[in-house]
Amino acid sequence: MINDFIPKIKKEITQISTENDLMNLKSKYLGKKGEFTVLTNSIKDLSIDEKKTQGPIINSIKKEIESLIGAKFKLLKQSSINKKLSEERIDISLPSKGSSYGSVHPISQVLDEIVNIFTQFGFEVFEGPEIESEYYNFEALNISKDHPARDMQDTFYLGQGSLLRTHTSPMQVRMMEVNEPPIKIISPGKVYRCDSDVTHTPMFHQIEGLLVDRVITFANLKGILNEFIARFFGKDIKTRFRPSYFPFTEPSAELDIEWKDKSGNKAWMEVLGCGMVNPKVFDSVSYDSAEFTGLAFGMGIERLAMIKLGITDIRYFYQNDLKFLKQF
Ligand code: DAH
Repeated sequence: MINDFIPKIKKEITQISTENDLMNLKSKYLGKKGEFTVLTNSIKDLSIDEKKTQGPIINSIKKEIESLIGAKFKLLKQSSINKKLSEERIDISLPSKGSSYGSVHPISQVLDEIVNIFTQFGFEVFEGPEIESEYYNFEALNISKDHPARDMQDTFYLGQGSLLRTHTSPMQVRMMEVNEPPIKIISPGKVYRCDSDVTHTPMFHQIEGLLVDRVITFANLKGILNEFIARFFGKDIKTRFRPSYFPFTEPSAELDIEWKDKSGNKAWMEVLGCGMVNPKVFDSVSYDSAEFTGLAFGMGIERLAMIKLGITDIRYFYQNDLKFLKQF
């Protein structure tokens, strides 16, 4: 009967698949009240001779049972490790998602293009502060206290005489204040107005131009701006200088171009403001207007970009929609 244990246990062990079941099997045979333990406890009732012969047999069977259980235990441990490893396996053969490249924003592209053209004409680039004083933004530019641009509705006032500049024109004054003529600069940057619809955003970009020297005339203004339009919009584009009013230039004009819309209809489109520097502005920087004359111009980058790229809603530029941005 004692010899039946090994085959019986071997058979049971093959059916076991969890450590828990194995522990149960171990206590079933080797536990305090286990079947094999009960049997070995009966040794003490045997005669001395029987003890001598049976004792070693029982011991070796016990060892064998222990080693069978031990071996199975190792096996279960290993297979649970294998299972865990296979669950954690990463399939490195998957193709990667690939990388995508960013691109220069259309406004930056157009701005760079305009700056390039004017630097080819010999203009130097200077940037100015976006937080301006009322003095530079208005007063020094001959914009009177009752001018509508000064209204709370049009300008972001920051208090204590500060505001977000409404145009890049204050850079005219800042440059002339610290430099003697000749001056030949452009100044690109962000400007701010309380305004928002299909053609206006509260923040947009402008480029200011200023050329001051001894004999600068309206002919220089026309020549420079016509050449700019030819390079930016194309050689055959017609232009017209339409009389206008800006407090800081006299005379003032707006430059229109003849432009075909998508359905081929021609129309005059206003592209920028310009004029001859008003002597009152020279006064505020102590330039002698008997000795010097100057031309100035200012243009909105978003407006030029919309005309050139055929965009009908300015807000597309700032919605960060990749479907839009990837087209440029
Ligand atoms: N600062 C003007 C504006 O924001 C644009 C402008 C007009 C600038 C005429 C100039 C200029 O330098 O001469 O509407």
